[in-house]
Amino acid sequence: MEQNRLSERGMRTIAQGLGALHVEDLTVTFGRGKKTFQVIESLNFSVAPGETLGLVGESGSGKSMTAAALLGLLPWGGRISRGSVRLGDQELTHLSARAMRELRGREVGMIFQNPLSSLNPSMTVAQQIAEPYRLYLGADARAGRARALELLQEVGVPDAERRLDDYPHQFSGGMRQRVMIAMALACKPKLLIADEPTTALDVIIQAQILKLIRRLQREHGMAVIFITHDLSLVAEYADQVMVLYAGRTVERGRTPEFFANPRHPYSRALLNSIPRLANGDARLSDIDGLPPRPQAFPTGCRFAPRCTLRTEDCELRYPPASGEGHQFFCVHPVGGAA
Ligand SMILES: Nc1ncnc2c1ncn2[C@@H]1O[C@H](COP(=O)(O)OP(=O)(O)OP(=O)(O)O)[C@@H](O)[C@H]1O
Ligand SMILES: [Mg+2]
Repeated sequence: MEQNRLSERGMRTIAQGLGALHVEDLTVTFGRGKKTFQVIESLNFSVAPGETLGLVGESGSGKSMTAAALLGLLPWGGRISRGSVRLGDQELTHLSARAMRELRGREVGMIFQNPLSSLNPSMTVAQQIAEPYRLYLGADARAGRARALELLQEVGVPDAERRLDDYPHQFSGGMRQRVMIAMALACKPKLLIADEPTTALDVIIQAQILKLIRRLQREHGMAVIFITHDLSLVAEYADQVMVLYAGRTVERGRTPEFFANPRHPYSRALLNSIPRLANGDARLSDIDGLPPRPQAFPTGCRFAPRCTLRTEDCELRYPPASGEGHQFFCVHPVGGAA
């Protein structure tokens, strides 16, 4: 018995060592010939089973494009032009569209901001939740329905049995979001990508949903990528943070180190805009100017035109990575050079 427990624990450690998601040099290019531009470039990150990566950055920084690239759901004209995405021991950038579709049902779950646009209005929630389970795991109608009930209960939909045959429009916003989580979890995915999953919800329901995701994540050992504008949510729910600016990583690290000592001036500016975390100073920091468009990304640091610490060398080339573990891409980091 004792030995069994030990070997079980050993297995878990090995599985965690293998990791869930490894992304290297991920670059997405739009267009052909001379008119190409990159919307995300050279992203590197890993997310272990049971761990959450918080992906932050202002609107247009490439957060959703990163999710779309991982899911094989890039908009027309976009392609992964460089890099590798490994989920477990599978390389995803080589998979066919069909294999990617199957992977999305079976190994990767997704939750988006607006559940109504992702739920099918003409199918009952039982049918929708059971669909991937039936399609990819070969369950029959009865087993599918039983799984749908189990999942609705797991995500905390009250009176789940009676609600199985309801349609999405009969649910409130928070309950719809739960239905979408149930769908995403139907096949026990290795990776869950949540793109602004709670932006449309009030703060109480937001906290409930995020706690629910965290509980399910721990129970199922899922890796989670949590995309948000909101750094205070990242501080609370993510194990590591990656800050994007204009399609590139400006800083990444474990959550406590990042929040204790943000090194990139852009991260610092983002943090200053959270009243609760900015030493009780409730002023909103305004970063002057706008981020560049992908068609006009500068050669050097992309934040340089808006940065108060900029010097000439910032504009010559993209700053190399500094720091180990906690990494940042800046030649004049906050708090002095590395
Ligand atoms: N279909 C498309 N073709 C070309 N470029 C696109 C397309 N869709 C989006 N983009 C560009 O890709 C960049 C990244 O967009 P993305 O949607 O990933 O931003 P985001 O960080 O998710 O922003 P938000 O916080 O507003 O959701 C933006 O500059 C955007 O203009
Ligand atoms: Mg987005």
